[in-house]
Amino acid sequence: MIHFARRMKHMNRSEIREILKVTENPEIISFAGGLPASEAFPVEELREAVSIVLETAGTKALQYSLAEGLPSLRRKIAERSCALWNANTRMEDVQIVSGSQQALDFLGKIFLDEGDVVLCENPTYLAALSAFRAYGPRFVDVATDDEGMLPDDLEKKLASEKQARFIYVIPDFQNPTGRSWSLERRRALTDLADRFGVPVVEDNPYGELRFEGEFLPSLRALGNPDLTISLGTFSKILAPGLRVAWLIAPPAILEQIILAKQAADLQPSTISQMQIDTYLERFDVNAQVARIRALYKTRRNCMAEAIRETMGNAASFPFPQGGLFLWLRLAEGIDTKALLAESISRKVAYVPGEPFHANGGGSNTMRLNFSYMPEDRIREGITRLAGLVKEH
Ligand SMILES: Cc1ncc(COP(=O)(O)O)c(C=O)c1O
Repeated sequence: MIHFARRMKHMNRSEIREILKVTENPEIISFAGGLPASEAFPVEELREAVSIVLETAGTKALQYSLAEGLPSLRRKIAERSCALWNANTRMEDVQIVSGSQQALDFLGKIFLDEGDVVLCENPTYLAALSAFRAYGPRFVDVATDDEGMLPDDLEKKLASEKQARFIYVIPDFQNPTGRSWSLERRRALTDLADRFGVPVVEDNPYGELRFEGEFLPSLRALGNPDLTISLGTFSKILAPGLRVAWLIAPPAILEQIILAKQAADLQPSTISQMQIDTYLERFDVNAQVARIRALYKTRRNCMAEAIRETMGNAASFPFPQGGLFLWLRLAEGIDTKALLAESISRKVAYVPGEPFHANGGGSNTMRLNFSYMPEDRIREGITRLAGLVKEH
């Protein structure tokens, strides 16, 4: 008999993922994946950027390179982090990773032994739970409202959980709820983390996709930089297929991360990094982000309006000021997991909310993505979903 490692038991194949495989079918209106709009990818500019790289850097672009990542790209990321998030970041603080998903895995690897504790929002990013779960932690969820974690509950749990290794949060347009933390809650979290000496992981793939309101400072800008790890990615502003993202952390943590990086895949892709570096030099990334914001804002408005019109009091949601997702709460007793098969037979897909809850709950919630589908498909999909909800 083939013997697999114990950790594989923590990594159950998700029944939902199995059902959602059918969303590849173009007939299905999918609100399920966290996919950016394909028409927003800057294909022409990225083609030009890669041609320039191959013409000017040639074999260098195809060779092995540094495990930390390309210095000029790390410098640009550091500058952008200072400009956008008010964080004092230098090139040396930046590690390039192959998707922020890889950073999540590395954080599990360097911080978590079996039985250690991760403090997280409830609900939180499903695939972060999967990445950490491989290392056998216990998830302790902190009570969360529309403005972020409740400081009293966080304090109580930091005091009682002696094996808390880090606090994992998504302060901007959270996946799955679309909610953003207020400045006050950001301050409360960084103060508490500092007082208890527990590192904070802020995962921020959506922060730049703000449709209205003011940018708020990052946790790294507000808190103790020696205890803060910030993740960012090109997936949602350029293209996820490039698999280039970054982790900003203090030297003591980066020393461990680089060991994990070398062991996992030696280094990030040389050519992808050079392509992005050249793109950032030659083209206007801010104009690209502005285009995406305008497109997603229209789609968010379209989805929110369609839900209000077709579902009325049967559904409620926090209105997201950015990002990719809308988090729907239905009447108590409706089980969105049980409803999914029926929904797919009507050719509309969503992700049930329960798996985003580390310790269960949320069976009457669902995550809807508004970035991927055009407006007519959004309206049609929501109308079909409303029909289904009303029958239950
Ligand atoms: C909160 C969060 N973290 C990380 C990721 C992974 O992003 P990447 O494409 O950089 O691996 C996602 C992707 O949807 C996400 O929503």
